[in-house]
Amino acid sequence: MENPTPVISFENLRKNYGSLEVLKGVSGSLNKGDVVSIIGPSGCGKSTLLRCFNRLETINGGRLSVMDIDLSPPKLGAKPLRQLRTKVGMVFQQFNLFPHLTVLKISCLLPVKY
Ligand SMILES: Nc1ncnc2c1ncn2[C@@H]1O[C@H](COP(=O)(O)OP(=O)(O)OP(=O)(O)O)[C@@H](O)[C@H]1O
Ligand SMILES: [Mg+2]
Repeated sequence: MENPTPVISFENLRKNYGSLEVLKGVSGSLNKGDVVSIIGPSGCGKSTLLRCFNRLETINGGRLSVMDIDLSPPKLGAKPLRQLRTKVGMVFQQFNLFPHLTVLKISCLLPVKY
């Protein structure tokens, strides 16, 4: 069977906040249907990586593509950004949660609504 095109792929991805280097060249890929856990100590950059996937953060180096949308450039037009936001959902860790919904319902909200 041919290798499927990854839904998310990232290569040598780098993200820093000023002098704090959080993501120091991480690489990986996820295919459709994959269920993946990112584990590591507090502060190692798990949420930062996820925030890069939906462009809540702009990467500082490397290459990142999510659902065929190239998130590598520092500037992204309104159209690809909108495309991305209608396809990628995120349940926040500490805030922006709806208290009357379950995690599953929050995750489904965007794809169901748009
Ligand atoms: N907006 C920001 N500005 C400056 N530093 C930040 C910012 N966001 C995160 N950091 C720092 O980046 C590092 C990685 O944070 P991140 O939230 O990605 O860690 P994490 O692995 O998700 O931790 P946890 O397990 O506690 O959720 C931490 O040192 C954090 O203080
Ligand atoms: Mg986190």
